[in-house]
Amino acid sequence: MKIMVVGGGGREHAIIKKIKENKDVEKIYALPGNGGMAKDAELVNIGATDIEKAVEFAVENKIDYAVVAPDDPLVLGMVDALEEKGVPCFGPRKNAAIIEGSKVFSKDLMKKYNIPTAQYEVFTDADEALKYVESCPIPTVVKADGLALGKGVIIAMTREEAKNAVVSIMKDKQFGKSGDSIVIEEFLTGPEVSVLSFTDGKTVIPMISSMDHKRAGDNDTGLNTGGMGTVAPNPYYTKAIADECMEKIFLPTIDAMNKEGRTFKGCLYFGLMLTEKGPKVIEYNCRFGDPETQVVLPLLESDLLTVMRAVTDETLADCEVKFSDKSACCVIMASEGYPVKYEKGYEITIPEEVEDNVYVAGAKLENGKLLTNGGRVLGVTKIADTLEQAIALSYNAVEKVCFGNAYYRHDIGQKALKCKEV
Ligand code: AMP
Ligand code: GLY
Repeated sequence: MKIMVVGGGGREHAIIKKIKENKDVEKIYALPGNGGMAKDAELVNIGATDIEKAVEFAVENKIDYAVVAPDDPLVLGMVDALEEKGVPCFGPRKNAAIIEGSKVFSKDLMKKYNIPTAQYEVFTDADEALKYVESCPIPTVVKADGLALGKGVIIAMTREEAKNAVVSIMKDKQFGKSGDSIVIEEFLTGPEVSVLSFTDGKTVIPMISSMDHKRAGDNDTGLNTGGMGTVAPNPYYTKAIADECMEKIFLPTIDAMNKEGRTFKGCLYFGLMLTEKGPKVIEYNCRFGDPETQVVLPLLESDLLTVMRAVTDETLADCEVKFSDKSACCVIMASEGYPVKYEKGYEITIPEEVEDNVYVAGAKLENGKLLTNGGRVLGVTKIADTLEQAIALSYNAVEKVCFGNAYYRHDIGQKALKCKEV
């Protein structure tokens, strides 16, 4: 089989490495991939949002199965375009990807179907939003409606910050049209859990839970990033909470999307907060999380491609999806200065002994050398019987990977370990 994977980050590298385990796979193409994946896939110089060229490539190369991994091509309708040409795909169609593409849509969906989430108001007029923040409870959370490269959520600790957020999103159009509407919502507290799930619109199978570390600095300080590391499973997510989420969140969401005529097929990501009043949805993503995928897929014991095809064929109910009972830790190695300003072009050395554990996100090949080419450069994942061991092994492997200006957090997994001590 010939497979194509759309996207170019660490998540896509993890998907590609897992798909490669299937014996029927002859070739994997990455569109566009990155230099660090060249051993695992053939890189194709087509951007992840170039729908026309991606479809043309799939048809010309007789692709048997396509995986569309990032949010933007999904929200733009790449799956619809590929399916129209008869290419079977993993990923939701455009009308279902809106669950991530529009926060107003997802909030209204949750309200309509009684799915627990933060209370909220929607605004399309900046002055009305400004009037609202004059008297709303503080802290509050201001969210741009559309995709904003993961930066569209502002936690305002003061009224002033809330006003500034409204002005920069709605008046200054910091995120362009994504800020035509905004959601202002209740500030929630509690441990956060990421639950990725496979769903074919009928059955939903949650994957092993995980915990992201979004801030740039140790002890959750500094700016929000795309994610500086992950662990799985997330010890805060007990069996009782998992059961409650299945009943009150996962099944009702799948049901709600069906009732809206927007059947979701693919990986539905539930970003949850475990509040004192029970688990609530912070966000939905219409795709695998990054860097959650880099801990979740290494723990998947079943064949990924088989599960993905069962999602496409709507036969997920008959498919076994089994996870290991071990733990995983992924430490992201970034370029110093990320997420603001950083240098690129430093040579990366990855010793052979850790190659299997490395998922490359931002690198390019030049004259046979692998060079840094992004903020998040790569992730190093290790698996062990306990979380403590997985953390120790990951940091040990991180020490063996070298590149100029490398930066990483030193406390990935520590919050999870604290939970275990309770
Ligand atoms: P997102 O960009 O949607 O992933 O959101 C970024 C982060 O903002 C989340 O991971 C949460 O930590 C935080 N967040 C979003 N909504 C809320 C909320 N209502 N209350 C508290 N924190 C929130
Ligand atoms: N790690 C969070 C995300 O993928 O959106």
